[in-house]
Amino acid sequence: MKHLNIDIPVDFKQEDELDEQERKLLTEAKEATHRSYSPYSHFSVGAALLLDNGTIVCGSNQENSAFPSGLCAERTALFYANSRYPDHAVKALCIAARDTSGQFTERPVAPCGSCRQVMVETEYRYQQNIRILLYGQEGIYILNSARDMLPVHFDGSFL
Ligand code: THU
Repeated sequence: MKHLNIDIPVDFKQEDELDEQERKLLTEAKEATHRSYSPYSHFSVGAALLLDNGTIVCGSNQENSAFPSGLCAERTALFYANSRYPDHAVKALCIAARDTSGQFTERPVAPCGSCRQVMVETEYRYQQNIRILLYGQEGIYILNSARDMLPVHFDGSFL
């Protein structure tokens, strides 16, 4: 038997350790939580993307009474960015979330599996790693690539 260990580098930073561009992205992600439509879960998620032309695109989770018809903040933002700016790679993505108390989560918020899969697809599509920032009041996880959040993933090369 062989045993594989996959090491994933994750930086853990405080807000005052972010650079100006990262701080701007975080501000946008936090603001986007206020545009969430989440009357069922009362969990408000905001996503902010930085494109390679400097444009910031935001999204928030959009729920539906038929639950599976809703969409997460990350995919709302990514699908909009990829359809509005199809020629521009996504360079960074920041997410923040407020829980049922209305406060930002203490822990860095973690994207769901479907959103990770879409982020990975976006990296392949543009041949560009996406820097991921996951905000929590206790600190911010920073990863160099969406693939680091989904190390054993399905992609077009299998098809
Ligand atoms: N949600 C997101 O928007 N992003 C995630 O990565 C996790 C979950 C949303 C979906 C749903 O509207 C609410 O949070 C509770 O699951």
